[in-house]
Amino acid sequence: MQARQPARPAEVDAAAPLLVFDSGVGGLSVLRKIRALLPDAPVIYAADNAGLPYGTKTEAQIAARVSGLLGRMTERFRPRLVCIACNTASTIALASVREVLEVPIVGTVPAIKPAAAMTRSGVIGLLGTEATIRQVYVDRLEAEFAAGKTLLRHGAPELVQAAEAQLRGEPVDPAVYARAAVALRAMPGGDRIDTVVLACTHFPLVQPELAHAFGGDVRFIDGSDGIARRVAALTEGQTWNREQDDVALFTRGGQDVERLRPALAAYGLGRVAIL
Ligand code: DGL
Repeated sequence: MQARQPARPAEVDAAAPLLVFDSGVGGLSVLRKIRALLPDAPVIYAADNAGLPYGTKTEAQIAARVSGLLGRMTERFRPRLVCIACNTASTIALASVREVLEVPIVGTVPAIKPAAAMTRSGVIGLLGTEATIRQVYVDRLEAEFAAGKTLLRHGAPELVQAAEAQLRGEPVDPAVYARAAVALRAMPGGDRIDTVVLACTHFPLVQPELAHAFGGDVRFIDGSDGIARRVAALTEGQTWNREQDDVALFTRGGQDVERLRPALAAYGLGRVAIL
């Protein structure tokens, strides 16, 4: 089914926010690109931290959480657009969520197409969650855009935890990043990887650490630039009225959320709320 058409500019309430959704802080890597294009956009950044991590859950569990939460949130906050800033949620639930919600939805797709255009060696690494790397959606992207190339996939749940910990200001053992690099390098052809797709929105948050672990010759690509351009295109001509700090909305409160406050504030999310 096609994505819903955006409302005409005159019909959009200038205070209506963009709703950016992820299981945790990963979507901040997308939010920073959206902000660069749309600095005046009011944003609700929603993190389903009660469901984190998504990557180790079943397809049925993820689909149920994502559609249930987005249903509640769109009813309550009336966003002008929803951005599912999570590869796991998008590759599993994007089509079904689009069926039921009356709002334009932009999803996150592993950046296999640009990676295939970038690679010189023909060997691409893909780091995602365990749930993402097994999706037929990824098989289709590989068949469509990376035919004739080698795509080596690795599920790295500990990188999700590393990104979460880093944003809470906690130290992370660098062995976590080394293990991701070693796992891809150890696959047949892995020594020739020159391009790595960061197919989880948490991973660009730790890209410098990953770059160090992989060594200088590897380039990284993720979908955030394309997502931000798509959000800007779908809201073109609309007016924005952002009168106060934006909100970070969590599905569960607690110490971890409190520790995230400084990092959230750096992304313009000066207020915290619990759903
Ligand atoms: N940030 C999410 C993604 O892009 C998933 C992290 C998780 O909850 O496992 O896939």
